[in-house]
Amino acid sequence: MKSRWRLDGQKALVTGGTKGIGNAIVVELAHLGAEVYTCARSDADLQQCLAEWRAQGLKVHGSVADVSSAEDRAALLQKVGEAFGGSLDILVNNVGTSIRRATVDYTSEEAEHVLRVNFHSCFAMMQLCHPLLKEAQGGGSVVNIGSVAGVTSIKSGTPYAASKAAMHKVTQNCACEWAGDGIRVNCVAPWYTNTPLASPVFEDKIKYAEILSRTPMKRIAEAEEVSALVAFLCMRGASYITGQVVCVDGGFTQNGWITN
Ligand SMILES: NC(=O)c1ccc[n+]([C@@H]2O[C@H](COP(=O)([O-])OP(=O)(O)OC[C@H]3O[C@@H](n4cnc5c(N)ncnc54)[C@H](OP(=O)(O)O)[C@@H]3O)[C@@H](O)[C@H]2O)c1
Repeated sequence: MKSRWRLDGQKALVTGGTKGIGNAIVVELAHLGAEVYTCARSDADLQQCLAEWRAQGLKVHGSVADVSSAEDRAALLQKVGEAFGGSLDILVNNVGTSIRRATVDYTSEEAEHVLRVNFHSCFAMMQLCHPLLKEAQGGGSVVNIGSVAGVTSIKSGTPYAASKAAMHKVTQNCACEWAGDGIRVNCVAPWYTNTPLASPVFEDKIKYAEILSRTPMKRIAEAEEVSALVAFLCMRGASYITGQVVCVDGGFTQNGWITN
């Protein structure tokens, strides 16, 4: 029974693990017994995180990779294969970026950049990891980190919202397509979470008050409140859950017109 709520012996790849939600996911999965491989663009941040994690006794590997680059993705998969052999139990597509403007003000390069980093990297990582996930004993699990911006309209910028909605749809489609391969695919969609990516928004006091006023729980999330759900979705305890987009949002997406 206990093993349903642990990840002992599982091998996980988490993209963008040095900061924010990705960092919390690496720590959460590793504390639950998984061996984790992660990547980021900054080697200095990666080496510092690896040293801290290993000092805590966590089994974490990592290398520098920009997952928006096809060349880097191929090199990353090569290294993951060397570290883990021919199988992978868990893939978490966490990397994401945002550029906020009025829709008419985006250059095509800016819009393409957001889609490439958020959506294309996720799609390509799923394609690359599929053969390894298929070999996972007990079934593979993919968790994509989407956003409430892919569920309802917020002031996130249209390319970001479109990229996240696309990630949600890939989740739902691949869950059906890959169920026969023993691979579950789910998506966790956070609302505002306390991370370096979102911190500039919180520095704007008016904007921050507006966010809290629309959030029934009247606070933003901590990264660990997102990583807890990611871990659950990877466990045997979630063995019949696939194709779901679950919001971690303090009630935000259910709030039509209740103010208190
Ligand atoms: N924070 C929120 O309020 C919020 C809300 C909804 C959804 N999300 C989603 O949650 C995910 C994580 O967001 P976060 O707020 O934790 O972001 P963050 O604080 O900016 O952290 C991003 C992590 O990913 C790495 N990274 C960024 N671009 C990369 C790339 N191209 N290749 C490899 N690694 C890369 C970063 O390290 P390097 O910079 O060294 O590469 C860092 O470790 C994103 O998909 C985001 O859209 C966040």
